[in-house]
Amino acid sequence: MNGTPPLAWDEDLECWVVADPRLARQVLNHPGFTSGTFERSFQLYMTEAAREEYHELTAFLRLWFVQADAPEHTALRRPVQRVMSASYVRSLAPRVEEITDECLDALAATVPHDVVPAVADGISGKVMAQVVGVAEPPEVLHRWARTLSLFIGAMYRRDYALEAHRTMVEMTEALSRATAPKAFPQETDEDRARTTATWAMNLFGGLETTSSLLASTVMDVLGEPTAWDAVREQRPGAVEEFVERVLRRRPPLRHLGRVVAHDQELAGERMRQGDLVLVSLTGEGLLEDSADAASTEAAATCPVTAETVTAETEQHLVFGFGPHYCVGAPLARLEAAVLLRRFAARFPDARLTDEAAVWGPNLSYVGLDHLYVDLGV
Ligand code: HEM
Repeated sequence: MNGTPPLAWDEDLECWVVADPRLARQVLNHPGFTSGTFERSFQLYMTEAAREEYHELTAFLRLWFVQADAPEHTALRRPVQRVMSASYVRSLAPRVEEITDECLDALAATVPHDVVPAVADGISGKVMAQVVGVAEPPEVLHRWARTLSLFIGAMYRRDYALEAHRTMVEMTEALSRATAPKAFPQETDEDRARTTATWAMNLFGGLETTSSLLASTVMDVLGEPTAWDAVREQRPGAVEEFVERVLRRRPPLRHLGRVVAHDQELAGERMRQGDLVLVSLTGEGLLEDSADAASTEAAATCPVTAETVTAETEQHLVFGFGPHYCVGAPLARLEAAVLLRRFAARFPDARLTDEAAVWGPNLSYVGLDHLYVDLGV
């Protein structure tokens, strides 16, 4: 824990930071902490004029069920969870393999060979397009996700709000033609707005996070000769075990937000209703702003390192904990496992180039902007 207190008030961010994994689980599974962080952030960080101007955007984001609490959350999540069932994810495997092969073709065809756009964004984008039933290419889907994520991270920025508003309009248009939302309520305007928001959230949820995992998986396996051998030799369990190791070592999301529902005491600290809470998923406090941490050096400079995460034996928090546990976790794991297998079979002599990894500047996501590889062919 490097001396980080389990719970502390951060003067700069004006919010609580929960660093201890056990306390994090408690907060993520406690009715005294609500998930409605967007609503609270609209109030805290947007001017009244901006709220008025972008009321359609705030209304759209307010409908994402990741922002709701029980019992509303439970009812809205159930049908999505049914769609994303284990058997559905298994049935997707052949399509994920095809998509992965297409993306590896694209990687081989572009010089320098950059894993991030061709493979990490490519696979996560095409797979989410398949799941939701939209026709847009990965570049467009990832642009949407990045634009929304910039606004969510800095709601006081009018330029981000404008871009996020445009994205919302484009996403709504695309989702009105998409296949998956057709099986969801469409009778009233309210139904349609909710259905669009639910699928926009699902699409958003599966893009940047999964792309980050996929790129980290390739980077780490090429940096670890023993693991690379085990994967190339197709040793039983090697791929799944390695993906889990990457998840622990490089969690794509660093923290989750919650809002204190009522005045209460936790870990000896007095918390007030409406206070924002950042729950660390890495077993650490907040890391330095990754604008400073952004680096062109390789794996060793990743802003989240193996040493900062919880013990191997403990269930990790990378996909969250409690009622909001990630509905896409099996899909993300499948994408990473398929990529490892296909990549090793196709490019067994691949290696990282010098200064292969370029980390992206983002405080809430940890991900690579570029990963340059020599394919050895
Ligand atoms: C490595 C990849 C991924 C990571 C690290 C990740 C992480 C997370 C985390 C930490 C949460 C909890 C949010 C909270 O408690 O506030 C979450 C929720 C969610 N994720 Fe993921 N996710 C990933 C992939 C996916 C994929 C592929 C999808 C879509 C297919 C997805 C869809 C969702 C949705 C819809 C929720 C909201 C669940 C709820 O509120 O009940 N995620 N994810």
